[in-house]
Amino acid sequence: MLKVNLKGCDTFVKAAQYKTYVQKALQAFDTLDKETGEGNDFLGWKHLPSENLGGDVVAQCKALKKDWAKKGVDLVVVIGIGGSYLGAKCVVEALSHSFEATLHTSKAPQIVFAGQNLGEDYMCDLMDLVRQKNVACVVISKSGTTTEPAVAFRVIKQYLEEKYGRLEAADRIVAVTDKARGALKSLSTQEGYRTFVIADNVGGRFSVLSPVGLVPITLAGFDVDKILRGAKKMEQACLRRNASNPAIKYAAMRNLLYFEKNKKVEVLINFVPKLQYFAEWWKQLFGESEGKNLKGIFPASCNFTTDLHSMGQFIQDGDRVMFETLVSVASPNRSMKILSDIQNLDGLNFLAGKSIDECNQMAQLGTYLAHIDGGVPQMEVAIDKLDEDNLGQLIYFFEAACGVSAYLLGVNPFNQPGVEAYKKNMFALLDKPGYEEASRAIRERLSK
Ligand code: PA5
Repeated sequence: MLKVNLKGCDTFVKAAQYKTYVQKALQAFDTLDKETGEGNDFLGWKHLPSENLGGDVVAQCKALKKDWAKKGVDLVVVIGIGGSYLGAKCVVEALSHSFEATLHTSKAPQIVFAGQNLGEDYMCDLMDLVRQKNVACVVISKSGTTTEPAVAFRVIKQYLEEKYGRLEAADRIVAVTDKARGALKSLSTQEGYRTFVIADNVGGRFSVLSPVGLVPITLAGFDVDKILRGAKKMEQACLRRNASNPAIKYAAMRNLLYFEKNKKVEVLINFVPKLQYFAEWWKQLFGESEGKNLKGIFPASCNFTTDLHSMGQFIQDGDRVMFETLVSVASPNRSMKILSDIQNLDGLNFLAGKSIDECNQMAQLGTYLAHIDGGVPQMEVAIDKLDEDNLGQLIYFFEAACGVSAYLLGVNPFNQPGVEAYKKNMFALLDKPGYEEASRAIRERLSK
């Protein structure tokens, strides 16, 4: 079961200070629990694990997987951005073979993502792959109006219609969107796409345990019931009002470090390469939820030991602005020992008989001690292994902790007003109808 360990903060904070922040976290917890805070119309995520476990959505995901398997689909393009992308991406990356794209160890179709950028080369490269495959598409957008996924979807839709004909293309497209609003919903109704609904009260970055994540993760061949089961364990643990609730411990300590110790940056670290995209998901969760009203801890990430050879220098020795949160994994899923070598020219025989993971664990412990000595407090979020159940636990834990932490910080965790600024400028620059005045103003500004 997931555990939060705060030992690596002991030398930086006083027990009395921590107690004060636990009290604040408990008040923030009440706001979340009683649903009395700002954004309380977006709390549907709290019960997604228990609502979806063994329910209709999962059954429909499995049925879709079967239908597309009958057609021989071997590539699914999953289109979405932000919360409509990162959850599925992080789970698929965490559970897949590291070289899945070339080795194809899974019987499930290959999953690729689109609509998470506007890179022309990316889209052209993607189409090179698509043209060689038996393709289907899942397009995910809650608002149904986001530009990046809409552009990618137009390209894929036109390709599918040209290749398979309009009717068959419609059978190879699934939309995950709002039940009534948005261009994607109208288009899906008109074309007869199979649709999954994103509930009104579930925001993008809290939606991975809804169809937004469950559809692509099922198609990728992973067991969403196990993910939901793991998440449900955390739903039970994180919704308890006490100081040993892991979400309260984490929220209390990170706010203490921010407010009392001037630690403005949190670096999520791991020693497991498959967690790289988990960190991307976490950055969005905390960045969009907390970074507002000129407040917030800047969420950063490093993948160790890789980044110990790049960012390690700064963390050890640079400006003391950060603390670390280690996501630790107790055991690997596979094993490999380092063998003895008669010549020992590389001088590595002192490692003979040890597993690679033993070396990794010692790198982790050595880093912990070094960074603490260097003035970087470290929290640990520990899981047993990297599998569906533990990922479900991690996801729910961080969602609950984010809700508590943002309320403690004094912001609405569930809106993202800052995201609109670039969109407004982009639409003005691209002459979107309705933006005529903004277009004139922005051109004048740029001409000065
Ligand atoms: O967390 C959020 O709400 C955002 O990151 C959205 O998920 C993102 O902007 C995509 O929005 P949509 O699903 O409406 O296309």
